[in-house]
Amino acid sequence: MTVSLAAPRTNHAKFITFEGIDGAGKSSHVERARELIAAAGLPVICTREPGGTALGEQVRALFLGNSMSPHTEALLVFAARREHLEKVVWPALARGEWVLCDRFTDATFAYQGAGREIGAAFVESLANITHPAFEPDMTLLFDLPPDAAQNRVAGRGAADRIEAESVAFHERVRRSYLERAAASPNRIRVLDTRESKEAVAERVVTLVKSLLP
Ligand code: TMP
Repeated sequence: MTVSLAAPRTNHAKFITFEGIDGAGKSSHVERARELIAAAGLPVICTREPGGTALGEQVRALFLGNSMSPHTEALLVFAARREHLEKVVWPALARGEWVLCDRFTDATFAYQGAGREIGAAFVESLANITHPAFEPDMTLLFDLPPDAAQNRVAGRGAADRIEAESVAFHERVRRSYLERAAASPNRIRVLDTRESKEAVAERVVTLVKSLLP
């Protein structure tokens, strides 16, 4: 049986992902990036993981609403991810649409691999079979120390079961993200969200502009 892979991209469409520990402030910047790309006259969609499809949103509710084994967490997010890639991300890129995605596989390395301590090898093997040779063109990593991030999460109302994890868990997640950024500095760009919101937004604009044709 042939496994359908990402369509080869013959256009300028890019896949940009947004990452960071809970409360790091990434989500508001997805919209800014979308506006910038749309203002350049390019088609662009915004999506998220887990989620992005009807099935994926059901998986998201399952994932956030139930406690489960750490390996099950990883398997569930990758099931939703494959559905998302096949139904939304790959077709959009093949049509020439830019895709902005709030979280992707780096999150599984950080949260399940490091936060839940299942290790990078398990996540790597799932990534290799789920989306071989496919990764974001750019990842914006919004970084903030967990104690500051948790104050922001607390200000948003009831925390979900991952947001409610310990500071030590979020420290492992953050460390993993930063290690991944250090290992792939061209793809993963770190934005320090202790800077003013305007300064961070300006960096988002500069980084996204660098990808525009
Ligand atoms: P969000 O609130 O940023 O949309 O993310 C939902 C939660 O899911 C967040 O706490 C991070 C977590 N998550 C994982 O644990 N593993 C993953 O692979 C993804 C994509 C998200």
